[in-house]
Amino acid sequence: MPDFVFATCLPGIERALKLDVAHRRPELRFSYSRPGLVTFKSTRSVTPEDEPGSAFARVWGKSLGAFRTPADAVRTLAPLGVQRIHVFGRDQEERPDLVPWRHELASVAPLGAASHGDLVADVVVADGEPAWGGLHRAGANHLAVPGGDFEVAMPSESPSRAFAKIEEMIRWADLPIRVGDVAVELGSAPGGAALALAIRGVTVYGVDPAAMDPGVLAYVGPSGARVHHLATKVSALRWESLPAHVDWLVSDMNLAPQVVIHELSRLLPAIRRGLRGAVLTLKLNDWSFVSELPSLGKRLEELGLAPLRMRHLMAHRREIGAVALLRR
Ligand SMILES: C[S@@+](CC[C@H](N)C(=O)[O-])C[C@H]1O[C@@H](n2cnc3c(N)ncnc32)[C@H](O)[C@@H]1O
Repeated sequence: MPDFVFATCLPGIERALKLDVAHRRPELRFSYSRPGLVTFKSTRSVTPEDEPGSAFARVWGKSLGAFRTPADAVRTLAPLGVQRIHVFGRDQEERPDLVPWRHELASVAPLGAASHGDLVADVVVADGEPAWGGLHRAGANHLAVPGGDFEVAMPSESPSRAFAKIEEMIRWADLPIRVGDVAVELGSAPGGAALALAIRGVTVYGVDPAAMDPGVLAYVGPSGARVHHLATKVSALRWESLPAHVDWLVSDMNLAPQVVIHELSRLLPAIRRGLRGAVLTLKLNDWSFVSELPSLGKRLEELGLAPLRMRHLMAHRREIGAVALLRR
C-alpha cells in the first residue's frame, strides 16, 4: 500500500497548496481533494514526522484515511500511542457535530494544544461525509493548536479582521512584543492591527491615505500607547515624520507583493537600526504568485528581513503572512 499525506487549508485555497507542493515536494502526487482538505500520494514512505510541505497547509501529516463513525476512529487510533487528539471541522466552523467525535475520542488521548514532540491524531470532520484521519508529530513547523486555530477573540471595537491576522502572526511566531515598543504599519486603515498592537502597549505609526477608525485613533493602551495616523501613501512618506526608533515593521498594503518589496526597500534603510522584526501580509493577486514565493522570500531576506517564515493562518484569505524575527 502506498503512503499518503494529508493537508488542511482554507476552503478555496487548495489550488495554492497543490501548486506549492508540486514545486517543493516532487515525490508527492495530488490524490484527492475536498474543500479544505487535500491528500497526496507519496512515492516514499511517510511518517508522522514528515515536515509540512507548504506554508498554505494549516495541518500536515500522514494520512490514515476516512473514519465513518467516532467508534471507527477510536478503533484505529487507540493502538497507535497518540498523545493528543485534535478534532476540528474541515470548514473550520465550530459545529455541534464535532461534539460526539470529541466525546468518544477523548477516551484515546487528551484534547487541546499539543506540546513539542507529541504524537497528534487529527480528525477532520465534515458535514454529511466521513471524517478524515491523520497523524503528525508536533514540532516547530506545526501549529500546536487543533486545526491551526488560535481562536483569537476579536473585540467588537476592531474595525477590521486585520486584528485577528496580526494576533495570529504574533502568537504563531511567538514575537517578543513588549509594552513601550514602537511599530510602523504600512497600510494601516481602518486600524484593526493597530488596535491589537496598542492593546499590547505598542505605539503605532500607521501610514495609509485612507481614513483610520476614530475609535482606534482615540484608544490609549498600556503605558500610554497610541495610534498615530500618517495620512499618505508610503511612496510620499517623509522620513522625518517617522519616530527615531522603530521596533516592529508591519505591512498590510493591498498592493502586488513586488510593489510592497519595492516600497520596503526604500523605507528599510530609514528604520533598520534597532528594528527587531517585521510582520508582513502579502496578497495573492494571482496563482502564479505561489511559484514566485521562494524568490520573493529571498528578496525580503536580502533586504535584511531574515530569517523569514511564511504561513497562511486562519484569518488569512487570498494572502499569506510573512514574519521575520531579526537576530540581534
Ligand atoms: C487590507 S487594508 C489594511 C487593513 C489594516 N491593516 C487594518 O488593520 O485595518 C489595505 C490598506 O492598504 C492601503 N494602501 C494601499 N496602497 C497603499 C500605499 N501605497 N501606501 C499606504 N497604504 C496603502 C489601503 O488604503 C488599505 O487601507
